[in-house]
Amino acid sequence: MNICVIGSGYVGLVTGAVFADMGNDVICVDMDEERIQVLRKGECPIYEPRLPEMIAHNQREGRLEFTTSTAFAVRRSEIVFICVGTPPKEDGQTDLSQVEAAAKEIAEALNGPKIIVTKSTVPVGTGDFVRKVIEAHRHDGSSFEVVSNPEFLREGQAIRDTLQPDRIVIGTSSEETAARLSELYRPLERPILVTDMHSAEIIKYASNAFLATKISFINSVANLCERAGADVKAVAKGIGADTRIGPSFLEAGLGYGGSCFPKDVDSLLHTSQELGAPFEVLGAVVAENARRVPRLTQRVVERLGDGGPKPLSGKRIAILGLAFKPDTDDMREAKSIEICARLKEAGAALRAYDPVAMEKAKAIIGVQDVEYCRSAYEAAQHADAAVIVTEWREFIQLNLSRLGDSMNRPIIFDGRNIYSPEQVAAAGIEYHSTGRSSVMPREK
Ligand SMILES: NC(=O)c1ccc[n+]([C@@H]2O[C@H](COP(=O)([O-])OP(=O)(O)OC[C@H]3O[C@@H](n4cnc5c(N)ncnc54)[C@H](O)[C@@H]3O)[C@@H](O)[C@H]2O)c1
Repeated sequence: MNICVIGSGYVGLVTGAVFADMGNDVICVDMDEERIQVLRKGECPIYEPRLPEMIAHNQREGRLEFTTSTAFAVRRSEIVFICVGTPPKEDGQTDLSQVEAAAKEIAEALNGPKIIVTKSTVPVGTGDFVRKVIEAHRHDGSSFEVVSNPEFLREGQAIRDTLQPDRIVIGTSSEETAARLSELYRPLERPILVTDMHSAEIIKYASNAFLATKISFINSVANLCERAGADVKAVAKGIGADTRIGPSFLEAGLGYGGSCFPKDVDSLLHTSQELGAPFEVLGAVVAENARRVPRLTQRVVERLGDGGPKPLSGKRIAILGLAFKPDTDDMREAKSIEICARLKEAGAALRAYDPVAMEKAKAIIGVQDVEYCRSAYEAAQHADAAVIVTEWREFIQLNLSRLGDSMNRPIIFDGRNIYSPEQVAAAGIEYHSTGRSSVMPREK
């Protein structure tokens, strides 16, 4: 099939590359000329495992092209995917300006029947809005259908998620359009759920909100465990063994961040208020999430601070991990941003390391307040404490004795619970994690 994908970011590039890999002819569009230049050179502008190889292969085979011209791409395609950004506004509402702009450009380029698929995460009713925008701006009388096909991929494992999604949701009332899209997805051999458009739009937000709820729930349990002297990891294992609950998204720590959960939860809250169906549970989910970073930084201040107005002045703190999660360079709503700001505010000198997100972090956190290092060991050298912010694999296998020996004070605050307290204590390090008792170093 001839497909075009508008918006070549994390979702658009993966979608385009996978459809091309399945044998379709795909054109990916982006308004960012530099990005398109990079892609045309055969390079990948984002860090996503397996994506660069898939892009390069399909480009070589002539099935994947890149352009800045939406008109060119739309005219050549029968199915048009909208994968542009839907960032939050100040009040939590979703900013649909990129979707609206894409819809206008599609309308102006219409030259025959098209299926227009919204893959961007958009509030319920946006499909109707896209249809109206296209109706208002088109010069061609051809038929078109607007469909909701929300995306559920996770950065860091986006190719796998796109090739093996748990389900494919197609929101349309047109049987013919549902059949056409089902045909496109058929080679994946995954469950396809056809719904009306409004339900499909809500499925995406409700899924993310439910996962965010699990995270805030286990974090509240962690608070309880700390008071009660219990171990949240054991409790999570016990809860997750129940098949009605499942083990995923029950890791206590710094809470959810990233480019999706915070904005999607806020957007659903906003929509539910707007529609007069208050969603009180979600308000509590957001409130607990907002307390996670202050809670951890407060523990650092209590342990190391001198009680003064800048309690951490003269203290050096290593920040291990900057990306919002492992296997991505995405810094949007990363917990490291707030952690660095709070520790800096308290007077600490910060030295950070992340395996892939350092360049993006420099642009967001800045280069004045943080010294960027080449390894976790370098960041921890002469530090008064290390804070684990992102659970990168390479941190899990660190030589803790070596790390501790190089520190001024061997203390770890683990925002992701990646170590066992015994293991850290045995390496001669004091260890403060989440929802578990702190442990003092043992003689080595
Ligand atoms: N990133 C994820 O993990 C993820 C997962 C599921 C769903 N989503 C949703 O998918 C959508 C895209 O997310 P993303 O992370 O890929 O965003 P992104 O910011 O990485 O990419 C969006 C791209 O669209 C381009 N763009 C914007 N307007 C355009 C226009 N009119 N014409 C051409 N290009 C345009 C931008 O330049 C940018 O490169 C969002 O709605 C997001 O909520 C994201």
